[in-house]
Amino acid sequence: MIVLRGATTIENDSKEEISAAVKELLDGIFSANTLQKEEVRCFVFSLTTDIHSYHPAKAARESGYDFAPLFACIEPEIDGALKRCIRLMLFAEFSTDRAVKHIYQKGAKVLRKDISEVFNIALDGPAGSGKSTVAKILAKDYNILYLDTGAMYRACALKALRENISPKDGAAVEKMLDKMDLKVEYKDGTQHTVLDGEDVSLAIRENAVSMAASDISAHKAVRLKMVEMQREIAEQMSCVLDGRDIGSTVLPNAKFKFFVTADSKIRAERRYKELLARGQQVEFEALHEEIVRRDKQDSEREFSPLKQAEDAVVVDTSKMNIEEAVAAIKALIQAKI
Ligand code: DC
Repeated sequence: MIVLRGATTIENDSKEEISAAVKELLDGIFSANTLQKEEVRCFVFSLTTDIHSYHPAKAARESGYDFAPLFACIEPEIDGALKRCIRLMLFAEFSTDRAVKHIYQKGAKVLRKDISEVFNIALDGPAGSGKSTVAKILAKDYNILYLDTGAMYRACALKALRENISPKDGAAVEKMLDKMDLKVEYKDGTQHTVLDGEDVSLAIRENAVSMAASDISAHKAVRLKMVEMQREIAEQMSCVLDGRDIGSTVLPNAKFKFFVTADSKIRAERRYKELLARGQQVEFEALHEEIVRRDKQDSEREFSPLKQAEDAVVVDTSKMNIEEAVAAIKALIQAKI
């Protein structure tokens, strides 16, 4: 069962205003979530005690929302609470592939700024800084999408490796892009990278793909194509994006920007443990060298390099565990909401 939340306010306690506000709220929640009648199980409204003129369930029924049980109740009277507020909890059942959008209109926008409008969190930083783990937790806690942009460059690299194209050969890579079918899909809220119809989410994690991804991501044509896809996704729904150039190039207007970093030895250690856990054999020293080389290459390339956006907040996770890093970032987000 999925619960969609919504709220709105009215200026005057009148039948007309209540009817119009209820209709606008329901229309908004249906269109934002492309909801179908059959998916709705029930509507539950609550009203602040200063609304008397009309019943929201009646208003909903009169606007055509009569296909599921409707219920309304009065909220407790709380000092300082929002005035003349109508809240809604809509219970529905639909595939979890679809993003859930809660709708807060008029004065109610202040109630949940975090979920009422499309907003993006940009997490940039070098490999192994912990940004992808932090990004996944933030996305889950805020009920928004996680977009791993590195996976997209990895998929380009995998395609080049499979077709024996050198990831450094710009002209050959550009040609390859024209016949590459790359899709980012979500199943049960988890990102799947689909290359030419094949789910390559695991294959792109091989260590051999990492350096090739760094090489291929330096080409302008690759970046233009990936950045366009990333912007399209981020415009449609709130998400946490992690990468190298999100705050600086992909979404310079992102509401929240962080540059997550850590000492290179510590980052190498984290990657080492991660690869060992996946059963991949690697040498620590070689891995450390590769990480340093990759950072240098990612930072020095000409087109959208790994860069801290001027307005990004730096979070150094060298001495933090994941819970501490998440708590630090959440506190910064709350302070800015
Ligand atoms: O985050 P990752 O290790 O999965 O990224 C793989 C490579 O892709 C990385 O070396 C640099 C590149 N990349 C990029 O250039 N821009 C991004 N937004 C994300 C990744």
